Amino acid sequence: MALGSGLLCLLLVLTGAQGFGILPGKSLSHLEITERAILNVTVQVCRFLAAAEGADFSFPAQPYTADGVAVSCGAPKSSKNFRQAITFITLSNARVDLRHALNASFHFDEEMFVQGRKIITEGIEAIKASNKQENYEAARRTLGEIFHPLQDFYSHSNWVELGNEFPNSNLLRSNVSIGNLADESMPTCRSCDGDDCSNNILEDVIKGKFLTSGYFSVVLFSATKPKGKCSHGGAVDQTSTIDPKGGINKDTFGSSHGHLHTQAANMAIAATSELLEDIREAAGDRPFLQMLRLSKGSSKALCFVIDTTKSMSDEIEAVRTVTTFIINSEVGTETEPASYILVPFSDPEVGPLIKTTDPKILEGVLMSLPVSGGGDDQELSLSGLQLALNGAPSNSEIFLFTDAPAKDKQLRSSVIALIERTQSVVNFMISSSTSTNKRRRRRDDSQQQQNRITASDAQLYRELAQASGGQIVEVTKDELVTAATILSDTLNSSLVTLLQAARSPGKEDVFSFLVDESITNPTVYITGQSVTVTLTNPSGESQQSTDTTGSLITSSQSVGNLQALRLKKLVGSWNIRMVSANPYTLKVIGQSDIDFLFDFVEESQGPFEGYDALDSRPRAGVNGSLLVSLTGSDTATVTEVTLVESWGSEEIKGVVEPQGSSRFLVHVDRIPSVEFAVRVMGRDDSFNSRASIVFQRQSSTHFRSSNLTISGDADSIFVPLGPFSVTFSVTALGQGGNFTIRATNNQGFSSTFPTSLQLETGKMANGTVTLLAPRNTPSGTDVRLTIEAEASDGEDSNYIVLRSTVINTIADFIEPECQLLSFQSNCSGLANCSDSSWTVFLRVTDGAEGTGVNHVRLIQGNGTIITNPAADNANVTMVFYSSSCCSPDMELLVADNIGNVGSCFYSSKMNAPAAFSESTRVTQMSLFSLCILIFGLQVLTELRVC
Ligand SMILES: *[C@@H]1O[C@H](CO)[C@@H](O)[C@H](O)[C@H]1NC(C)=O
Ligand SMILES: *[C@@H]1O[C@H](CO)[C@@H](O)[C@H](O)[C@H]1NC(C)=O
Ligand SMILES: *[C@@H]1O[C@H](CO)[C@@H](O)[C@H](O)[C@H]1NC(C)=O
Ligand SMILES: *[C@@H]1O[C@H](CO)[C@@H](O)[C@H](O)[C@H]1NC(C)=O
Ligand SMILES: *[C@@H]1O[C@H](CO)[C@@H](O)[C@H](O)[C@H]1NC(C)=O
Repeated sequence: MALGSGLLCLLLVLTGAQGFGILPGKSLSHLEITERAILNVTVQVCRFLAAAEGADFSFPAQPYTADGVAVSCGAPKSSKNFRQAITFITLSNARVDLRHALNASFHFDEEMFVQGRKIITEGIEAIKASNKQENYEAARRTLGEIFHPLQDFYSHSNWVELGNEFPNSNLLRSNVSIGNLADESMPTCRSCDGDDCSNNILEDVIKGKFLTSGYFSVVLFSATKPKGKCSHGGAVDQTSTIDPKGGINKDTFGSSHGHLHTQAANMAIAATSELLEDIREAAGDRPFLQMLRLSKGSSKALCFVIDTTKSMSDEIEAVRTVTTFIINSEVGTETEPASYILVPFSDPEVGPLIKTTDPKILEGVLMSLPVSGGGDDQELSLSGLQLALNGAPSNSEIFLFTDAPAKDKQLRSSVIALIERTQSVVNFMISSSTSTNKRRRRRDDSQQQQNRITASDAQLYRELAQASGGQIVEVTKDELVTAATILSDTLNSSLVTLLQAARSPGKEDVFSFLVDESITNPTVYITGQSVTVTLTNPSGESQQSTDTTGSLITSSQSVGNLQALRLKKLVGSWNIRMVSANPYTLKVIGQSDIDFLFDFVEESQGPFEGYDALDSRPRAGVNGSLLVSLTGSDTATVTEVTLVESWGSEEIKGVVEPQGSSRFLVHVDRIPSVEFAVRVMGRDDSFNSRASIVFQRQSSTHFRSSNLTISGDADSIFVPLGPFSVTFSVTALGQGGNFTIRATNNQGFSSTFPTSLQLETGKMANGTVTLLAPRNTPSGTDVRLTIEAEASDGEDSNYIVLRSTVINTIADFIEPECQLLSFQSNCSGLANCSDSSWTVFLRVTDGAEGTGVNHVRLIQGNGTIITNPAADNANVTMVFYSSSCCSPDMELLVADNIGNVGSCFYSSKMNAPAAFSESTRVTQMSLFSLCILIFGLQVLTELRVC
């Protein structure tokens, strides 16, 4: 054991990948194969749609890029989301090498053709089901997972060596032949001739068109393979040192069969395209593009979370006006949202979540929104927000309207986790009524302080707004509309963040930001009371925000605690001096196509190079990595990436490593222990023909790190026939102690989990979450399980989000039924009930679509029961019951194999002729013969039932 693991450690430092590389280089990697296929099929779909609509279509320039394809598809504003979708799919693909490195089925190694194909076909079913439910993110995740084995097939098997010129379409279908599979006993390779492996597959295999693939193992002592079988090959694969030596993979140009790398990679692109075509066929063209986050508008969702408790009755009219205003400010524009979401919350009801693509429907619902419930001073605002964050696609824009503090403060860390994961922006619109018959907000702190929202309550909302890059606006109901007008400018989807900062408590500070040539409409948003703001432009001119005569600020608006200053564009570095003793936030935005997106990634420590996107917070205080993608320009590059403290001024610079395709891997020495944002500096030398530009962008979302690590893995397919268990591990890298565990899921499935874990410093503890889904949960349901661990002082917490798609293979939702074949009773008018008996003869059936009768159980009645499955039909069970007249009633429970349970009740007193229909009535004679046929003569004589 110790020897084995020691050896594994030694091997970890070797490089080499199993499967097409993950990191880009000269050879084609999974990443490039995936991206090329997606761009290829997307162009076909858009061209087809344009032709169908009689619109012009121009092909993007070769080689295709996400931005170029988005423009050709007439959806330039969704290029950022399109790129995000592609990155998400490729990261999900790369993850397979890290999570299932040694599972041969995921790589079509070791002749695991049937098993590998099963992964693909089950995945296809899950993707189609997800798309039907509009769970596009789940579809993207599964796409990446099954692209990996599909692409590996062409590198690891001898499909290319057999002279095939087209992909193997039968990998996408179950129940068809994958090909002429080599038997386990069939030798397939000979040892390579020195370094030359180009000719090591046996002639008989080639001639007979037998399909084989290489064996693979990283551990020398356990490396075995059946006699005469091919190996994967390469330095990491220990089976390739066993006869027949050498390998057959085509992962890179340098591989054993590297001379066929280009053919294999091109075949993998064609096969990936074919799989995408299959998905497109099932989904339809528009939903297919939506799955890839390409849509005419901005492809984001606009969400309203609205407090509908009684105290809001004064404001609700204003809220309607505001929401209608916000909706209409985008309808018909090129940034029109792809969908609209409404979540009302009252007390105790929260939801339901209403989602529609039609703004008119949403307006209708808003108009009829009832106001009721509540009564105390706090409302379930975080529950409403949680529902919206769970239901909206990532990068959505959320407006929450309330006049009360949160009653459900315990959801704080869960909501922050959701904000980090979805990178959605949450704006809080906090209103106070001006009417006199209710508690009234007063800015002066008189002794009859009657604010519903105190400073500490507001602090929670402020913290959430800040974490998401949103605003917290505190106004009267009359000011709501003005506030919305000001904020509606932040909805533009080509909006970029130049700078975001906050100070609490307030203090004097100077911030700088860069306005580049690509920026239009630079605007400064400030929230906070009594803040003095002084701007200095790149030419050194200054202006105070209250000064109406200067030339830096073209317009200034303020309402409640919110101020917006529109700047006269001047390219260069600006300064802004903020002076206030109160907490304040500062956000500088502009419009530009050039922006960035990123993921925290973990670099592989294993034998396979690559990185895996984190589904949890990065580790505090130690080094870490980010994968940054630039959008909006194919020629822009990243020059500097910095992690910037949100509330303080410390900054940590990273080292940037270009990866091709506008992607950059960034290493930082230390992830801050406090909340931080990500700032990217870059340049674009071909922005316009005249000059190169230097730009600065900042993440809108703020992030936290943790001294806790949580890991876990859920099966990607959730079959709701029994409990679904997920094991997870928590490690306390800092202080040990008693940690609270919370497991929540977006579907409200019941779950069990340990509510606390005792952790020693540096040690790992494991737990299991068990979910139980209703049996009739539809296929395609996206299950997101969030497991959180929190230190007892609440100072540190981490979470992991695990996802799974429901596949309900069984469409049997109907319980079995009883058909009465015969009924006899001689029980009426008896002096002594024991003098006579009654009998029923039944046919229990689960129907043609059913899963079959599992069992029949007598729950009432004292008679004799005999059951027997029908000889000719597995879905049918025959039941004979006979009882003394002293036990006049009988009841049966009948269950099918999926667990649907029905019951049947009969009584000796029932009216026989009406109880069963003519068609199933059998004569006494035939009943007797049937009875013998079914139950057998011996049973009958023993029990005397017939
Ligand atoms: C592009 O996709 C089409 C299907 O949409 C496919 O037939 C073709 O082979 C793909 N092209 C390449 C280069 O793989
Ligand atoms: C992690 O631990 C260090 C040292 O104990 C501490 O300074 C830091 O605040 C902790 N970070 C978090 C996020 O709790
Ligand atoms: C850990 O805390 C929970 C409550 O948060 C408590 O029920 C449990 O007993 C504690 N465990 C230990 C070992 O102290
Ligand atoms: C927890 O699980 C991991 C792997 O899942 C295992 O290596 C470890 O030994 C387990 N630890 C405990 C304390 O059970
Ligand atoms: C069933 O039989 C038991 C004795 O075998 C008797 O005590 C009971 O009363 C009977 N029940 C009915 C409903 O006849």
